[in-house]
Amino acid sequence: MNRIALLASGSGSNVENIFNYFNVRKTLDFPLVLSNNEHAYVHERAQKMGIPSYFFTKNEFAEAKLVLDLLQKYAIDGIVLAGFMLKISQPLLDAFPNKIINIHPALLPKYGGKGMYGHHVHEAVKNAGETETGITIHYINENYDEGNIIFQAKCPVLLTDTPEDIAAKVHELEYRYYPEIIEQVFG
Ligand code: GRF
Repeated sequence: MNRIALLASGSGSNVENIFNYFNVRKTLDFPLVLSNNEHAYVHERAQKMGIPSYFFTKNEFAEAKLVLDLLQKYAIDGIVLAGFMLKISQPLLDAFPNKIINIHPALLPKYGGKGMYGHHVHEAVKNAGETETGITIHYINENYDEGNIIFQAKCPVLLTDTPEDIAAKVHELEYRYYPEIIEQVFG
């Protein structure tokens, strides 16, 4: 069974959702969580779920040697980013060709790129007067949010929606579809 590392920089609600889904499906194994944020809540979630989680600095992720050693130690086959804010460095891309995927809370190629994360995305969607938004699941390449698109799902944006309302709808799509797409890609 393929072994997938989960990378997150913040809360990790997607990490928890993914782990719960595969606890039932048992088609993939998630033995490792990595974060670039020592105090990210994702570490608490990992601990509760019994998954080892490690912190690496931005430079360690960029240099990649320590990260690659750990991924090898855990015999990782693929990498799933779930709210991971750093660009993936070339050594990691080389070690996991077409084996790193990400979820972005908007319909790429719009509202993507550096700085476009979390509420920034939903505010931009709102300010642009978009009537729909959604999620994009894509392969990772050397540029932010530019890898080949695997899957997209949409939800309406109402004039009365606040960025928080939009975020809630987008998170629902993430929790609904990310586990299934991960299973299709790595299962
Ligand atoms: C999600 O909105 C995801 O689309 C984006 O980062 C957020 C992570 O949220 N990449 P969480 O940490 O999983 O709660």
